[in-house]
Amino acid sequence: MNFPIGIFDSGIGGLSILKKVKDLLPNEDFIYYADSKNHPYGEKSIEEIVLSAKSCVDELLKRNCKLIVVACNTASLNAIDDLRKMYPDTLFVATYPAVKVAIDVYETKSCLLMATPASIKSERLQRFVSTIDKSDCIHFLPCPRLANLIETGCDDTASYLKKLLTPWIGKVDCIVLGCTHYPFVIGKIKRIIDVPIIDGSNGIAKRVEYLLKENQLKSLKDEQGKIRFINSSFDGDDIKTKEEFYQYISVGK
Ligand code: DGL
Repeated sequence: MNFPIGIFDSGIGGLSILKKVKDLLPNEDFIYYADSKNHPYGEKSIEEIVLSAKSCVDELLKRNCKLIVVACNTASLNAIDDLRKMYPDTLFVATYPAVKVAIDVYETKSCLLMATPASIKSERLQRFVSTIDKSDCIHFLPCPRLANLIETGCDDTASYLKKLLTPWIGKVDCIVLGCTHYPFVIGKIKRIIDVPIIDGSNGIAKRVEYLLKENQLKSLKDEQGKIRFINSSFDGDDIKTKEEFYQYISVGK
């Protein structure tokens, strides 16, 4: 019960998920694994994404994680079936674009789904969207390089977004962020298209809480949990400090 929850992404994107899970479950310990060495996943083949995701899971299991959050839409959409087969005893929570929320809660008539090229191409996403009612109101917008611009804090992000989003002004009533990096540029997106912006992080946090309860794995500690940051590009742990983490979280607000 007192082992940590593991969370991974290709870089800083999953921090947007970590924050929500930590807010809901403050007494849990976390290990955040940023696979910066293999970033960006969204421009890779399925085989490469599966291999990268597998190496993240191995690192987290080596550190006794009791549950693993795949805090990356690209890895979830392209690798979760393989991961579940390779690690049948591991509890996984996957991250998918919150298109159902756009339809059921926001009652969208025309919704823009922004995601990495590998997510948009994935069979799982296309299959999922085709099974939902009103799937024709979802418009797919692949955003090549965007996660990388965010990851590297590039100054060009605002002009990149302007070019990408201008054709959609006045044509959509909400935007779904189908990549965990994108919440860091919500402010920039809103300055171009001012519609409700949806990301799935609340749903992920609730799913983690549910699975921990169901498997009797909730932490028994009554003090604040700790977060440990690991990065595949560097040897050793704790590369990203807590201060850096909070700095990232405040970006884009
Ligand atoms: N943050 C990731 C996602 O949710 C992937 C970004 C990337 O590495 O391309 O899809």
